[in-house]
Amino acid sequence: MVVKRPGGQKLAVVMVGLPARGKTFVARKLQRYLSWLGYSTLWANVGDYRRARAGAKQPAGYFAPDNAETREEREGFAMAALNDLLDWFKKDGEVGIYDATNAERPRRDIIREACSAAGVGVLFVETICDDPAIIDANVRRNKLGLPDYAGMSANDAFRDFRARIAQYERTYRPVEDGEGSYVKIVDAGRQVISNRIEGYLSSRLAFFLMQIRPTERTIWLSRHGESEFNLAGRIGGDPPITERGRKYAEALAEFVRSQPSHPVVWTSTLQRTVATAALIGRGAQSLRALDEIGAGVCDGLTYEEIKARFPDEFAARAIDKFRYRYPRGESYADVIQRLDPVIVELEGLRSPVLIVAHQAVLRALYGYLMGKPQDECPYLQVPLNTVIQLTPTEIGYDEERVTLQA
Ligand code: F6P
Repeated sequence: MVVKRPGGQKLAVVMVGLPARGKTFVARKLQRYLSWLGYSTLWANVGDYRRARAGAKQPAGYFAPDNAETREEREGFAMAALNDLLDWFKKDGEVGIYDATNAERPRRDIIREACSAAGVGVLFVETICDDPAIIDANVRRNKLGLPDYAGMSANDAFRDFRARIAQYERTYRPVEDGEGSYVKIVDAGRQVISNRIEGYLSSRLAFFLMQIRPTERTIWLSRHGESEFNLAGRIGGDPPITERGRKYAEALAEFVRSQPSHPVVWTSTLQRTVATAALIGRGAQSLRALDEIGAGVCDGLTYEEIKARFPDEFAARAIDKFRYRYPRGESYADVIQRLDPVIVELEGLRSPVLIVAHQAVLRALYGYLMGKPQDECPYLQVPLNTVIQLTPTEIGYDEERVTLQA
């Protein structure tokens, strides 16, 4: 059964902006967020089409707007990417993210008209930044490692990329009000301007876009220390932690103290996470949205007991663990929906954050952060006694797992 979402609209998110303004960062975040929420999404990057078809190594002059030959070639790549996106919409695509500079109005008009003819709405997302320090840092951090500059010295690559930006600056025109729906993100989120946002999906995206900004802060995810129920193989409930769990709480507090800056700490409202974070000092915030998946009538049972008492339920869960909902409880799909505000809050935080929660909830959060397909979420490895450390990159997070002696 296909469940229609409110509005049921198909949407092309069309990125706009000069190079090195964080378009890909925003595009990838949007894609991860939407896929995690269950939308069928596709990210089409015109730069990848160019690299595949014309070769990665093109000098800055290749991007000159008055170079008739390369201009036509580049427009061809842009149209190829657009046509692939429109073909995908014809199947069951819901939100396509079209990642290119789209710096000139005529190109944007073509995109909007082609989408409109295909029954696909358009939301322009423009990233604007005039601060040379931020732009230079972005180039150094994200552009010098591109295949475009393989084998070139960092300084030569840096100079070439600045020259490429200058080529685009010659004809760049920001999106105008008459072009339709847009969200403009100015100076990495200092200001967000929107125009003619209509419908549920675009509004939800505009809201999300207000929160995200590039940041270097670390996110740590940890399950609670071992609980009485872990020891007994029981699920759910609100059991206390064991002696081993208390040792983990000590090790976790020590781990946090060894970090350069103190994180914001979030726990669930259940005593096993609250006790695990208690020794860290400074207040932790308890969020109900972080409580473990509701196991309903199976709460407090072992898996063997569930199999014996509710064999049909046990079998149904094995078939579709992501969508299976415990009677009077929750599914992983439900958990994702209730975690949505936590993700929005998390994206808006500038400081490091430690989230002490539970297996199913952390699988869902980790799935979002690492861009895992929904169906994989219920099987992700989130063991006890382990801190998952995630450090942001342009396209996601680098991960390290630290096992703490409990
Ligand atoms: O066993 C610990 C636990 O956190 C339970 O409370 C919860 O029901 C379970 O893990 C979630 O894991 P799974 O979805 O694999 O049953």
